[in-house]
Amino acid sequence: MAEVVIVPDAASAGRLVADEIVRLVRANPATVLGLATGSTPLPVYEALPARLAGLDVSRLRGFALDEYVGLDVSHPESYRSVIDREVVEPLGLDPARVRVPSGALDGIEHAGDDYEEAILAAGGIDLQILGIGTDGHIGFNEPGSSFASLTRVKTLTQQTREDNARFFDSVDDVPMHCITQGLGTILRARHLVLLAFGEGKAEAVAGAVEGPVTASLPGSAIQLHPHATVVVDEAAASRLRFADYYRHSYAHKPAWQGL
Ligand code: GLP
Repeated sequence: MAEVVIVPDAASAGRLVADEIVRLVRANPATVLGLATGSTPLPVYEALPARLAGLDVSRLRGFALDEYVGLDVSHPESYRSVIDREVVEPLGLDPARVRVPSGALDGIEHAGDDYEEAILAAGGIDLQILGIGTDGHIGFNEPGSSFASLTRVKTLTQQTREDNARFFDSVDDVPMHCITQGLGTILRARHLVLLAFGEGKAEAVAGAVEGPVTASLPGSAIQLHPHATVVVDEAAASRLRFADYYRHSYAHKPAWQGL
C-alpha cells in the first residue's frame, strides 16, 4: 500500500517533497519529473528554487499530467501557461525540456500517442507529483477511467468543471474536454507522490488509500504501485482509519529509505 505521511501543513509537505526532488537531481541531473497543476503542488514548487540553487538543472526534464482541450496555450489558465509560470520560469528550466500534452484541436487525435512516445523517449518519469480531485480523479482521469489507460482525451465531469471554475470567469468558460496522462501512464512512473490538503479532500484521500481499488475512484490506482507516497495535512488525513499506524510507521522509518 501507499506510505502515508501526515504533516502539520502544506508548507511542510512542500519542503519534504522538494527535498526528495533535490536528492534525485543531485544523484541524476537528467531526472524526469512528472508535474501536476492545481493549487495543491504549489508549496512544492515554491520550496524548490532555493533548494535547487547552485545545482545543474539544464538537463532536468518535466512532463505535465494534463491540459485543457481547445484552450489557447497563451490563456493564463492553460496548463502550459501554469507550468511555465509556476515551474519553468522560477526554476530556470529549459521550456523545451518541459512538455505539456497538446490540447490544440488540430492534431488532437494523435496528441496522446505523441505524448506517450515522448515520455518513453525520455526514459520514463522518475517522480510523479499528483494532486487529487474531490471526486477522486488524478490527472484528469475521472471516475470510470481504465487502470490501463494511456494519454488520451477525456470529458470533464460537471463537478470538476465547477471545482476549476475559480480559475475562469464562470463555469461555462471551463473547457468540456481535456487531454490527460492515463492511469496506466501514471502507474509507470517510478515513484508517485500524491499530495492533498484540507477537509475537502479527506474523503477522496481515504478512498484512494484505504478504499477498494476501483475505477470509480481513480486515485485508488496508487494502491497498485510499488512506491507510492501520500503526503497530507491533518485535515486531509481526518478520515483515514489507520492514521495512527501511519504516524507510528513514519516516525520509525529508516533514514536510508528516503521519501
Ligand atoms: C485539477 C487537475 C488535477 C489536480 C486536481 C486538484 O483538475 N487536473 O491534476 O490534482 O484537479 O486540484 P487542486 O490541487 O487545485 O485541488
